[in-house]
Amino acid sequence: MNTNLNISHSHEVKSPRRLMLEIKDLRKSFGKNHVLNGFHLALYKGENLVIMGKSGSGKSVMIKCLVGLLQADSGSIKIMDQEINTLNQSDLDTLRTEIGFLFQGSALYDSMTVRENLEFPLRRHKSKMDADTSISELVNNALEDVGLLHTIDLMPAELSGGMKRRVALARTLILKPKIILYDEPTSGLDPITSKEIIELMRRIQGQYKTSSLIITHDIDCARVVSERILLLVDGINYVEGTFAELSTSKDPQVKAFFK
Ligand SMILES: Nc1ncnc2c1ncn2[C@@H]1O[C@H](COP(=O)(O)OP(=O)(O)OP(=O)(O)O)[C@@H](O)[C@H]1O
Ligand SMILES: [Mg+2]
Repeated sequence: MNTNLNISHSHEVKSPRRLMLEIKDLRKSFGKNHVLNGFHLALYKGENLVIMGKSGSGKSVMIKCLVGLLQADSGSIKIMDQEINTLNQSDLDTLRTEIGFLFQGSALYDSMTVRENLEFPLRRHKSKMDADTSISELVNNALEDVGLLHTIDLMPAELSGGMKRRVALARTLILKPKIILYDEPTSGLDPITSKEIIELMRRIQGQYKTSSLIITHDIDCARVVSERILLLVDGINYVEGTFAELSTSKDPQVKAFFK
């Protein structure tokens, strides 16, 4: 099934870049459902890597293994050179604060105001705060970053879908993660709001020099934000390349995504 097209890409000739995240031979099954069958990836500093794949191909499962919401059956996951399998719980918790995760949907706490939603990760990870900056300052700054300071005292139910997504992004940014994982950041949004989110993702990458894994079906999103795209088929890497390379591929499995 894996035809190993191995499209080369221009990034390979650049000087060595810092490896932020490395996954090797990741496997995960649920009973007889073999979801991940030896998946691998490398994410470099400052880079946006887009992951595409059919619904049910294991994209969210992969990200959940990465953040510890699911336990992989086997394989290696290195976050900034540290193999997560070898870390104790407290070191793992610290390392995971370097990773921001924007869930599929926005997953705000419905019973909390916008302010309380943003305060939540800060109270859990006090060690990430420097003594000079107050919680309210951090919350204000993060909301300003996404252009939504005026919503600070609103409840999630009072926000539009796009606003919820931006608040969730502000909540992810508040711990200043080095790596951001986006699971379908533009799904369910109208084209104009999608464009706003895409621009915001670009701006965050420029401003904070973050590296990101972005799961998306949205061709515009992939075109604008990606340095590289990886296509996942049957739980394994099918092909990897730039948008220009993949969008002009003659391979039917690849073409299906770029129609
Ligand atoms: N907690 C779980 N228990 C059992 N099976 C699961 C669990 N989570 C996911 N799966 C199965 O793993 C497979 C991959 O699911 P996953 O959510 O990763 O798909 P996806 O690629 O993210 O799809 P989509 O594009 O629709 O979000 C599916 O067959 C799903 O039923
Ligand atoms: Mg998913």
